[in-house]
Amino acid sequence: MEGLRRGVGYGSPAVRLGMVVFIFAVVMMMMIPEASATRWTVGGNKGWTSNVNYTIWARDIHFYNGDWLFFVYDRNQMDVLEVNKTNYESCNADHPLHNWTTGAGRDVVPLNVTRHYYFISGKGFCYGGMKLAVRVENLPPPPSSQPINEKSSAPKSTYHGRLVLPAVLAVGAVWDVFVRFL
Ligand SMILES: *[C@@H]1O[C@H](CO)[C@@H](O)[C@H](O)[C@H]1NC(C)=O
Ligand SMILES: *[C@@H]1O[C@H](CO)[C@@H](O)[C@H](O)[C@H]1NC(C)=O
Ligand SMILES: *[C@@H]1O[C@H](CO)[C@@H](O)[C@H](O)[C@H]1NC(C)=O
Ligand SMILES: *[C@@H]1O[C@H](CO)[C@@H](O)[C@H](O)[C@H]1NC(C)=O
Repeated sequence: MEGLRRGVGYGSPAVRLGMVVFIFAVVMMMMIPEASATRWTVGGNKGWTSNVNYTIWARDIHFYNGDWLFFVYDRNQMDVLEVNKTNYESCNADHPLHNWTTGAGRDVVPLNVTRHYYFISGKGFCYGGMKLAVRVENLPPPPSSQPINEKSSAPKSTYHGRLVLPAVLAVGAVWDVFVRFL
């Protein structure tokens, strides 16, 4: 048995390496849709601070579901509070929906729901303009798709599900083959 298997060559280093490379390629293919997510440093190289108009900063950016906001700031002075629209407009920091402040002055906020998000800094800085409103959109259709029409404007989540599940099954099948001949 052992001789036969070795003769066929399933256990040879070259075949094993080939399988590892193939699995790696499949995993990379699965990751491509996710790789389009962007981490936006709020305020660009000025960061999260006073004297920046974040309405202007955000005006030309499309924020997509799956992106992140990265707040970089002076941890001894400012903070990052998510509030509702009313409290964003009035700079009321007393009822945050979410306190994203970790204490490091570097906070990452996942934009994982398609909606409006409102952020302010407490401690009085909001009144000076330290407030950010972003609208998070669904991912646009993939570049290769047809011009916009009723069918191709289906939500991106459907696209993700269609692509990822077969990929997971494919990896499982390849892994099974790999383990059997190891
Ligand atoms: C925001 O929350 C406040 C309470 O902190 C509430 O009075 C107000 O109606 C809320 N606004 C919206 C738009 O939900
Ligand atoms: C937000 O959380 C940070 C870290 O836990 C804490 O120090 C700070 O007091 C909190 N701020 C508010 C307004 O709740
Ligand atoms: C979005 O991210 C937050 C924070 O990580 C998490 O608590 C929440 O469950 C996520 N929501 C969805 C819809 O994935
Ligand atoms: C930021 O700029 C917008 C558009 O020019 C303006 O409407 C808004 O009042 C400005 N905000 C602050 C806090 O200066």
